[in-house]
Amino acid sequence: MALPTYVKMVEVGPRDGLQNEATPIPTAIKIELINRLSNCGLPVVEATSFVSAKWVPQMADAAAVMTGIQRKPGVSYPVLVPNVKGLEAALAVGVSEIAVFTAASETFSQKNTNCSISTSLERIRDVVDKALASNIRVRGYISCVLGCPYEGVVAPQTVAALARDLFLMGCYEISLGDTIGIGTPASARAMIHAVERDVPINQLAAHFHDTYGQALANLFAVIECGVAVVDSSVAGLGGCPFACGASGNVASEDVLYMLNGLGIDTGVDMAKLIATGEFISKFIGRPSSSKASLALAKSKIMIH
Ligand code: HMG
Ligand code: MG
Repeated sequence: MALPTYVKMVEVGPRDGLQNEATPIPTAIKIELINRLSNCGLPVVEATSFVSAKWVPQMADAAAVMTGIQRKPGVSYPVLVPNVKGLEAALAVGVSEIAVFTAASETFSQKNTNCSISTSLERIRDVVDKALASNIRVRGYISCVLGCPYEGVVAPQTVAALARDLFLMGCYEISLGDTIGIGTPASARAMIHAVERDVPINQLAAHFHDTYGQALANLFAVIECGVAVVDSSVAGLGGCPFACGASGNVASEDVLYMLNGLGIDTGVDMAKLIATGEFISKFIGRPSSSKASLALAKSKIMIH
């Protein structure tokens, strides 16, 4: 299949990235990060999550973040919502898009949301119905699509059935999460082929963590299959607090470098993205996990 001419880059660093940071990050820094990301040309910046502060303390300032950011016209700022309580809090600060989440593994579902997969789907149905009634767009996530940190192998058919459920409920896009970055191009491709029988491929997104160093290879494999929406995290921030050992998402700068090299348009400005990654890495006090960013900082040439 021919490569797409445009890939939509969905930046998840402010949520998926920062949620895993143990030290509290000031709200003002989160707001500056989101504003800077919006100015990079990214069409989507997932801003925060309205989850229980007991479960994820770092996201306790979700309302303040959403009221503090400058919402740039044309940019979407989805927020993660686990239940109706979270939806109501998100609606109160005027969000226009949310993301709901479930998992393809029972144990991970319990660890992440304290309920079974089927209960999570009931909660999600309630959230989606109420969100759509308020004209809020809903994105759906499935975790552990290429393997679970507790149960190991996950069957592509399990992922396909869940993707179909979320799609039929009204999610406009299903983001397929390799939460622990365990997949390889062959398993990523097999999973996409299973899911695309139930959900149109142009409504699927790849959300790959880079724990095993496979994320870019896996992304290329699924882009070749026709996936044209890619989640990533500036400076490769993050991980999931409920998936032990999971490292951050694939770095946005590395994804952009690959897409630029392939001649695929994204509308994202590399220099601004690198500067944003440097800003947050400096604040957190850790070098960026983006290899492209580190290499470009030392190099005088920019081929892509
Ligand atoms: P629970 O403890 O079973 O829920 O948690 P509960 O209803 O018994 O409530 C417990 C307390 O939380 C109560 O407070 C509630 O009011 C409060 P208390 O009465 O004890 O003071 N509460 C809330 N507070 C604020 N906002 C809310 C909310 N809901 C309840 N929305 C629950 C169940 C789902 C709430 C909890 O497990 C939770 O918040 N989980 C979120 C976990 C999370 O954020 N994980 C990371 C994101 S998922 C991810 O990273 C994967 C992804 O990136 C894709 C991938 O990589 O695979 C998306
Ligand atoms: Mg994730």
